Amino acid sequence: MTGLAQSSSDTDEAIRLRDVIKVYRDGDVETIALRGVDLSIKRGEFVAVMGRSGSGKTTLLNLLAGADRPTAGQVMIDGTALDRADEGRRQKLRGRSVGIVFQTQNLVPFLTLAENVQLVDSLATGGTSGATEDELLARVGLRDRAGHRPDALSGGEQQRAALACVLAANPAVLLADEITGELDSVSAAALMDLVRAAHRERGMTVVLVTHDPAVAQSAQRIVRLADGRIVDDRLTDTAA
Ligand SMILES: Nc1ncnc2c1ncn2[C@@H]1O[C@H](COP(=O)(O)OP(=O)(O)OP(=O)(O)O)[C@@H](O)[C@H]1O
Ligand SMILES: [Mg+2]
Repeated sequence: MTGLAQSSSDTDEAIRLRDVIKVYRDGDVETIALRGVDLSIKRGEFVAVMGRSGSGKTTLLNLLAGADRPTAGQVMIDGTALDRADEGRRQKLRGRSVGIVFQTQNLVPFLTLAENVQLVDSLATGGTSGATEDELLARVGLRDRAGHRPDALSGGEQQRAALACVLAANPAVLLADEITGELDSVSAAALMDLVRAAHRERGMTVVLVTHDPAVAQSAQRIVRLADGRIVDDRLTDTAA
């Protein structure tokens, strides 16, 4: 289980979930997406979250991003209790500490790639990566596409551009939801190189949802969800 993180002091903790329950209500229909999740992630740790479709992975990531609140339980990011924070406070924390790349790409369609990166850079409140949009796009292999709009790019290129945007804000915590899902293995490997570099070189805490065991092996730890519960939590060979 999470004995690893429990032995460390609270200040080592980037993320802490205590008995988190999430119920979606849609009229009369209730869906219990998370059924009591306890999770502690250390600063600078790289965790993969796996589990079947509908097991609660995106729900978990949305809670970590402060994009949603738990129905019950506690969510702490960087020492701030997100479950009790109002929207303004959560928004501030999102701008400062958390960067999220969604399952579907989050680029602004009518802006060029360079403008998309600039936009994120200007919205970041916690000091940016210091790199120019040119450098960031070069790092994801898209420098010659800086003037293109997202719809002129392939799916893999769009996903890389979305990652470049998030890295522009230099978040303490990078949350990534199935970002290699629709990519061929070469594009997926290129994207994972970027994530690993952010983790290694900037000490970024990374929580990455994936269905792909090969992608998950980049992480130091794999947490498995089934039906809204953590059913497995173990270190990978990468952690050694
Ligand atoms: N906004 C919502 N309203 C109602 N039910 C929802 C909502 N979002 C998710 N759910 C339900 O909650 C459960 C968990 O969904 P979630 O999106 O977290 O799964 P997931 O593990 O990310 O799946 P996938 O691998 O398909 O992306 C599912 O049963 C889903 O139908
Ligand atoms: Mg999902």
